[in-house]
Amino acid sequence: MYKLLIRPFLFLFDPEKVHHFTFGMLRFFFSIPGKVWIFSKIYGVNDPKLERELFGLKFKNPVGMAAGFDKNAVLFHRLHAFGFGFVEIGTVTPMAQAGNPTKRLFRLKKDKALINRMGFNNDGAIVIADRLKKGNKNLIVGGNIGKNTATPNEKAKEDYRFNLEKLHPVVDYFVVNVSCPNVGNIALLQEKQYLIPMLKELCELNASLGKEKPILLKIGPDRTEKQLDEVIEVIAESGIAGVICTNTATDRSNLKTSDKKLEQIGNGGLSGKPLSKRSTEIISYLASKSNKAFPIIGVGGIHSAEDALEKINAGADLVQVYTGFIYEGPSLVKRINKAILKS
Ligand code: FNR
Repeated sequence: MYKLLIRPFLFLFDPEKVHHFTFGMLRFFFSIPGKVWIFSKIYGVNDPKLERELFGLKFKNPVGMAAGFDKNAVLFHRLHAFGFGFVEIGTVTPMAQAGNPTKRLFRLKKDKALINRMGFNNDGAIVIADRLKKGNKNLIVGGNIGKNTATPNEKAKEDYRFNLEKLHPVVDYFVVNVSCPNVGNIALLQEKQYLIPMLKELCELNASLGKEKPILLKIGPDRTEKQLDEVIEVIAESGIAGVICTNTATDRSNLKTSDKKLEQIGNGGLSGKPLSKRSTEIISYLASKSNKAFPIIGVGGIHSAEDALEKINAGADLVQVYTGFIYEGPSLVKRINKAILKS
């Protein structure tokens, strides 16, 4: 039904407009009594064998919605209706910001991919924290945090601290996002000389706020082996709980989409099918090189149950989807959970 009727219709329109339209529809639809329940009966797979306990949190199942889908925490409390075990809201920045000028989201249909340069458009930490407080939580919620575009890298630490403090009472785990290719030179913060002191400070702040929330680092797929070795060092030295692999890619090699079209699109991060192999390689590298010393959430190009199993077999404890959800529809989550049960 989704791939035959809904997707062809939605794909006729601008991707960002479709995103807002679908969100509006889902908000309305899920406000009708009983709809969330019906959908969770259709898409949910309830089995204790799917439960995962990781960094002190109990996940109903290991399939989550990746950051960027529900940036402003408006639908998070409904997403279990599609069978998700957890959702990551954000990226959240201290001040609300509009992000980059539109048009900034593009479909690469031939590649089952997207390119985006959204640039952390969001309502800001205070408004989002308030929303998270109000929505009843039916699943684990992660808070993905970043810096405002106008904040220079030297002051980035303050932005991450602000977000952590504001969201601390209302999220279950944090993700420090320093790997977005669309926010100035934020990716430079991935270097260990910046990261270790900043993460240590965030861990101290976290401990001072009462119940400690796990902090994870989200890395990009364009990291070299040497840089991945440094990720292992960063996690060990800073004391954070784990890593999310991976964010969107800047590399565009081997795409079916023409160079002309790619040039027209301009810069932005690539997500979806073409990312699958590289993000799995990174998971596998980090898991084996560290001797599986920390939990890994695998994300990037999961469009089928097999893609998800590949990431789990490579060392991912949990997986997340975004672009695959757009291309394959909500039944993807159910198919992954069923395949995990069978594996
Ligand atoms: C993203 N992603 C993302 N990640 C993040 O940490 N913060 C963000 O704000 C966003 N925003 C965002 C917007 C859009 C439109 C897309 C497509 C993606 C990256 C996302 O969470 C994920 O890491 C990658 O997209 C790879 O997974 P998929 O999409 O291939 O399943």
